[in-house]
Formats: sequence, structure tokens, C-alpha cells
Amino acid sequence: MFQAAAKTLSIASTSSVSRAILFSLRHYCKKTPTKLRVSEALSGAELGENVKVQGWVRSVRPQKANLFIHVNDGSSLQPLQIIAGSELNDPLLTFGSAIEVTGILKKSPHQKQPVELEADRVRVVGKCNPVDFPFKIKERHGLEYIRQFPHLRCRTNAFSSLLRIRSEATTAIHSYFKDNGFMQIHTPIITSNDCEGAGELFQVEPSGPAHEEDEHFFSVPAFLTVSGQLHLEVMSGAFSRVYTFGPTFRAENSQSRRHLAEFYMVEAEVSFTESLEDLTKVMEDMFRSATEHVLAHCAEDVDLFHKHVTPGHRDTVDAMVKKRFPVITYSEAIDILNRSSQKFAFPTYWGCDLQTEHEKYLVKHCGNIPVFVTDYPYDLKPFYARDNQDHPEHTAAAVDLLVPGVGELCGGSLREERLDLLSARLQEVGLEDTYSWYLDLRRFGSLPHGGFGLGFERYLQCILGVDNIKDVIPFPRFSHSCLL
Ligand code: 4AD
Repeated sequence: MFQAAAKTLSIASTSSVSRAILFSLRHYCKKTPTKLRVSEALSGAELGENVKVQGWVRSVRPQKANLFIHVNDGSSLQPLQIIAGSELNDPLLTFGSAIEVTGILKKSPHQKQPVELEADRVRVVGKCNPVDFPFKIKERHGLEYIRQFPHLRCRTNAFSSLLRIRSEATTAIHSYFKDNGFMQIHTPIITSNDCEGAGELFQVEPSGPAHEEDEHFFSVPAFLTVSGQLHLEVMSGAFSRVYTFGPTFRAENSQSRRHLAEFYMVEAEVSFTESLEDLTKVMEDMFRSATEHVLAHCAEDVDLFHKHVTPGHRDTVDAMVKKRFPVITYSEAIDILNRSSQKFAFPTYWGCDLQTEHEKYLVKHCGNIPVFVTDYPYDLKPFYARDNQDHPEHTAAAVDLLVPGVGELCGGSLREERLDLLSARLQEVGLEDTYSWYLDLRRFGSLPHGGFGLGFERYLQCILGVDNIKDVIPFPRFSHSCLL
């Protein structure tokens, strides 16, 4: 803007008036501070420059001649130190208040911070009464305490770190799929199918008075999706690698530390599979690639968790990244559990559903690293799972990935692509009419394929060592709670 204005002026006239305007314009442009985020200021890119930083006060320390303020805007864990003359002090400058500071960015003489901002102006944009504010300066509040304030907890160090990690992990997962030739599909949130057949559905109808002539808004019962799998399967008839990453909903009446009513699921579907290994490879590679990315790009934030929230968890994460994930069959898993001296609350026998306590035991048994369990009893799996006809026991080509501290992280299977077998199974469970379109996928160019779903919140729990799933999602929804 300055250059364009200057050019116009120099062409138009060289009179003393225009020279004066030009001078003021130059002076004005030089003085306009560059707006920086805290992370940009900390990187030292604008050293010696006049800058403006906006954020929230993390601490205020008035001394005789100077005032030291730490300000953060969520762009990094580390705050920026502001040094201001004591005349700039303001009683409204308190922990949590929103401020705007201008001044010169300088190299700091202290080792703790690379740069500091020598302020010539500090303006309180929004005050914050420290007595009423639920978080106190310099106090490390526990995750359980901050969970009581879903509208304010993003102001704490721990939760802002979590949100940066969550955002970076999302990017990492999308990058993994992009780099490996997967196409993203936006599968619907509202659907008329119950993919898992577990009946944990939220029904969708308008909140106003019912339509006079129609029982249902969509003319059929419609639900919030429990999984995008069946829609991905549609796409896997035309694209050989597809994925989706979005919210999924389960009306599970559970208060457990690993279940939510609304959670994010990463789902992938691979066409022309030859064995379960085609799926376990994608699960393992994606896990490793996303985790390495998060450790590299969110080092400070991850450290905060591994040092203060879940001490000692870093070693577990390093082992998960370095070691290959073992594979055991469900039958081997049952043998291991039956041989164990641990007393389980739920009995173990061939055909039983593995409970969290069993899954956690199996993970420990395999060296506290993620472990794949394959070939589950056929009757435990939904209608779409492929029948392992060549196995002595009646099993399905299904696989779960169990991980330290959490248990089941991923569930997947090869899909039944043989029309006669699928049709018979659907008939058996009374769903042949509902899924006639699904049978069409087997009628027209059927192919061996398979896929899996990964619970994104459980993934975050696993790499950060967070015990309660409600602490890794911005706004948790579970039975009897839908705050905000
Ligand atoms: O094992 P699930 O139910 O698998 C499916 O939904 C498949 N249709 C996915 C597919 O093959 N495309 O769920 C997948 C994962 C689980 O392993 C778990 O990590 C997570 O989703 N999950 C939950 N996470 C939080 N809260 C809940 N209520 C969850 N239910 C499942």
C-alpha cells in the first residue's frame, strides 16, 4: 500500500507539500506494528521490530521499576514475556485478562526465554476477576477439576496442550492417508442404517410438531451414524482406497472411561485385499506415522502430559513407536487368559466377548505394546464380517487392535464379498430387505475388501496416557451429560 501511494505521489508532484505527505506516510508505515502470534514472536523472526501481540495474561509480576507479564494466545505452550515500565501497570492486568501489547521485540538476556517484548503500550481488552475465575495463577489444576468448566478449560495449560495435540494428530492422520493414496469421503451423519446392529442408535426427528401425513421426517426412521463403514464400502466399489474421519454416535448407557455418546472415528476401506495383513499394515503404519508426527510437532505439549499428567508414559509411547505390533489369534488370546493367574471379573472361554480387563491383560502379556487379535468367533461379529470357512472353529476374518492403558483402539474385518454367504447371513438376521442395496454391491463387480475403524479419542488417551476419555475431547457427550 505504501509503495503504491508513494509511486502515485512521486509521479503527481514533487512539491514540498507532497514531500511532507510522503515523509509522514513513511513514518506512519514504519511505526505501524506488525501483528504477531506468540509462537511467531518466540521464533524471533521479527527481532528489533515494532510488534503487536494479543492474548491472555498467564502471570503478572510487578517489580520496583518494571512490570513482567507473561502472555499466551494458544499458539504455543510457552508464553511470551513482556517487560513494561511500572507506569504501564493497571489494576485490571490480572491472570486471565485479555490484553494487547505493542513494543519492540528483543533478544532476552535470560536463558528461559529466547525473546521478550519491551512494551511501550499495554491495553486491557477484557478484564477477568481473579477471585471468581475458577483457575488460579501458578496452580496446576487436575484434569478432573478442569472438566467441571467445559467453557473455560481451554484457558488452562494442560487442556490447551491437549487441543493443540488433537489438532496436530488430525492433520497427521489426514496426511498419512493422502500420502498413501487414500481418498477422503464425507460419509453422512444422518443415515437410515445401523451398521453395527447393536441397537445403540440416536433417532433423528424434527423437534417441532410431527408432520401431519408422515410418521417420520425422512419417511423412514433415521439415525445419527454409528459408523461410516457401509458408505465407505459403497465407495470401495469404485475407488480402491477410501477413508473418512468424522463424528460418530452411540447411545451407550455407559459412564466408562473409554466410552462417549459422540466420538470421532477414523475409518478406512481397502479394495482387493488378500488377507487381514492388508488391514493390519495400514493400522500399524497409520498409528506409527501419526504418533511420530505428534511427538515431533508437539514436543512441548506432549512433554507436559508425560511429565506432569501421566509421569512415566513416555517410555511406553517410545516402545509403541519402535516395536512391531505382535499378532495373536482370538483362540491364542483365550489360551493366554485361561492360563493366567489373574482373577477376572468376567469368565473367559472360547466364544466369550473380550472385556476391557481381558484386553488390558493381553496387552501387558505381549510386552505393553499394541497387539492385534484376529479371527474372532463368527457369532460375535456383525453381519458384514467375512466367514473364515477354512478354519476348524467357526470364525470371522476380523481383527481388533488392543493398546496399552485403553484396550480396544481399532476394530476391523474383511467384508463378506460372496453374494450367497452374505445373503444367507442377512436372511438369518432378518435384514435381507433392509440391505438389498448392500447385496447389490456383491451383485455388480464384487471384490474382496476390508476396513477398520479407529476411535480417535482412544488414540489420544493411548499416546498421552490419559485415563478418562472425557479429558481428550473438547466437549464430551455421555449419558446424562450434554453441557453447552
Ligand atoms: O469396533 P467398532 O464398533 O467398529 C465399527 O464401528 C466398524 N464399523 C468400523 C469399521 O470397520 N469401519 O468401533 C471402532 C472403534 C473402536 O475400536 C473404539 O476405539 C471406538 O471406535 N469406539 C468408541 N470410542 C469412544 N466411545 C465409544 N462409545 C466407542 N465405541 C467405539
